[in-house]
Amino acid sequence: MYRLGQKEIDEVSRVIKAQKMFRVGDPKTGHLQEANRFEKEWAHTIGVKHALLLSGGGTAGLMAGLAGMGIGPGDEVIVPAYTFMATAAAVLMVGAIPILAEINETLTLDPRDVEKKIGPHTKAIIPVHICGIPANMKALTAIARKHKIKVLEDCCQADGGSFRGKRLGSWGQAGAYSFNDFKIMSAGEGGALVTNDATIYERASIYSDSGTAFRPYAGNFSMPVFLGFQFRATEIMGAILRMQLQRLAGMLADLRRIRARFVAELKGKPGMRFAPSNDPKGDCGVVVSFQFESEAVARAFAKAEGVGGTLPIDSGKHVYSNWDPILKHRVGHSPGMNPYRMPKNKGLRLNYTKNMCPRTLDILKRTVYISLHPDWTKAQVRTRIEACRKVGASL
Ligand SMILES: Cc1ncc(COP(=O)(O)O)c(C=O)c1O
Repeated sequence: MYRLGQKEIDEVSRVIKAQKMFRVGDPKTGHLQEANRFEKEWAHTIGVKHALLLSGGGTAGLMAGLAGMGIGPGDEVIVPAYTFMATAAAVLMVGAIPILAEINETLTLDPRDVEKKIGPHTKAIIPVHICGIPANMKALTAIARKHKIKVLEDCCQADGGSFRGKRLGSWGQAGAYSFNDFKIMSAGEGGALVTNDATIYERASIYSDSGTAFRPYAGNFSMPVFLGFQFRATEIMGAILRMQLQRLAGMLADLRRIRARFVAELKGKPGMRFAPSNDPKGDCGVVVSFQFESEAVARAFAKAEGVGGTLPIDSGKHVYSNWDPILKHRVGHSPGMNPYRMPKNKGLRLNYTKNMCPRTLDILKRTVYISLHPDWTKAQVRTRIEACRKVGASL
């Protein structure tokens, strides 16, 4: 639901006219430094020292973050049972094992369940700011500090969101963003890792570009280059995302204004209960979420004329019970690359069941999202609010 237009066309044509699409190049030769410039601007926006733009999406951002933290076989990483499967897949891609924790009614990771799930091999937690809804970063970072484990924020659905005035992605040791086609900012595909930690940044840079030999600063690394992946971004990506960033504040202001109107006009009205929020001001406003006492009522509300609601339980690979490749341990192209079979992971908590997080399933069945669009007119917003009010009164 990004906005896209002339600014992006102009910036991309500048790159094409310069005939320099590879991200590494000398400005003296006419190279525009679009990827580098986006990284600086994104780091500044999030309020961190380093940003790494990647071609492999938010998945690559998460993998680079985990690799940057030195996580691998023998380690467990806690992820919410409600997130896109990529969050857990990234853990497996670095050879570690995802451990599922419940969400609470905010639709984000439940700090109390996280604390219960921490074991002797837990090395990190990945809170997910799903649908732009901020997780409780105060509670989660406090737990992580107490247990001396790391926090990698999955901000893939929350470009620009914040918690208590501090941007998402800057609370943990690192944060991952996605710029795929379903996001607030998009280059069609793409992702980023942000961090204040120089070691995480350095290791993530090497991991995501083993050809760092191309980079002018490759000689300055404090560690030898090891082999990882090729997730280098292009200048085209950088150019588009720099323009997308210019639109971000306006997008968030419009989404938040629309969300606030739903809340102001429907709060306390018969049948209406909003999902509790860890921080309504920092919420990106991608959705407005309601909760009901049963799935039947939630479905009746979602389907009622003019409401256009959806139940997160129906969101396919965002619900852990649909993560078949993970539940069935189908990972990697070759058995030796499957973390569930790796000798170092023997003895870790490897098994899952479809009903292992019952509270998550219950909440997802009783929740209804209305996806918001920043370009809705006042009249379009009013019509939807009226539809909700009408059906709420009849439930
Ligand atoms: C919560 C979450 N994490 C990770 C990802 C992976 O991002 P990408 O598709 O850009 O690799 C997504 C993408 O939709 C996501 O929604």
